[in-house]
Amino acid sequence: MHQPIGPPFSDTLVQRLRDAQRVAVLTGAGISAESGVPTFRDPDGLWQKFRPEELANVEAFLSNPELVQGWYAHRREIVEAVEPNPGHVALAELERWVTGRGGEFLLSTQNVDGLHARAGTENLVELHGSLLRSYCLRCGAPAAESAGAHGPLTCEECGGLVRPDVVWFGEMLPEEAIAQSTEAAALADVYLSVGTSAVVYPAAGLPQIARQAGAYVAEVNPTPSDIAPRLNEQVRGRAGDVLPLLVAALPEA
Ligand code: OAD
Repeated sequence: MHQPIGPPFSDTLVQRLRDAQRVAVLTGAGISAESGVPTFRDPDGLWQKFRPEELANVEAFLSNPELVQGWYAHRREIVEAVEPNPGHVALAELERWVTGRGGEFLLSTQNVDGLHARAGTENLVELHGSLLRSYCLRCGAPAAESAGAHGPLTCEECGGLVRPDVVWFGEMLPEEAIAQSTEAAALADVYLSVGTSAVVYPAAGLPQIARQAGAYVAEVNPTPSDIAPRLNEQVRGRAGDVLPLLVAALPEA
């Protein structure tokens, strides 16, 4: 006799979502893995091949701007060539479900790939910036990338070096982004932490803030993160498999 295989999440999670007025979500690189964007710390992740200290900080950029600009241009090409996956789409549906019932929803992502916006999420905070934007290090003007340029890309206004609008190691997160995310975590009834190893703070603190403030906090990840034991529920599975099932388990708005 085979036991029927149930959903990978609890009835409690579904019930808490049904009752929730405020839902907030943190995502990391894992949610984009099924679109074909490499994560950072998995066995085939970016930090296995590249050293953060050589690429993802301002000193590295100043000592070799072309190398760093080239690496980000390469990552931008990857994300522009892929599509949002069912995990991104399900989170956009979850937002519409929550707001359609008069509730509040915020998605805070550590990802810089723009895939949540492309999937239709509206109330979105990009905690670590975006690969799709650049600005001048000297005058701060937003800069358009010019493909095929020789030498480092420089600002059309002032000639300063153009850098990607991402948060590098040693830099502060955009103040408004972390403030809005912290408030949403503290007020959430249900908080989902999806596809993140939860080792980079302050983002990794958000699910814990939510838990301490009384939210029901579930993690969606095939492998338990560092903070998993401190949350209410661990949903083991890929975001693109689990999240559509979770949204399908909710009653029609
Ligand atoms: P990591 O690469 O550290 O973690 C990715 C997580 O996704 C791991 O816990 C995987 O188990 C999980 N994962 C893999 N495939 C998945 C899938 N299909 N569905 C769900 N989960 C899956 O990436 P982040 O936690 O996002 O920061 O890393 C955080 C920050 O570290 C990044 O924003 C970046 C990096 O240094 C900066 O660049 C500032």
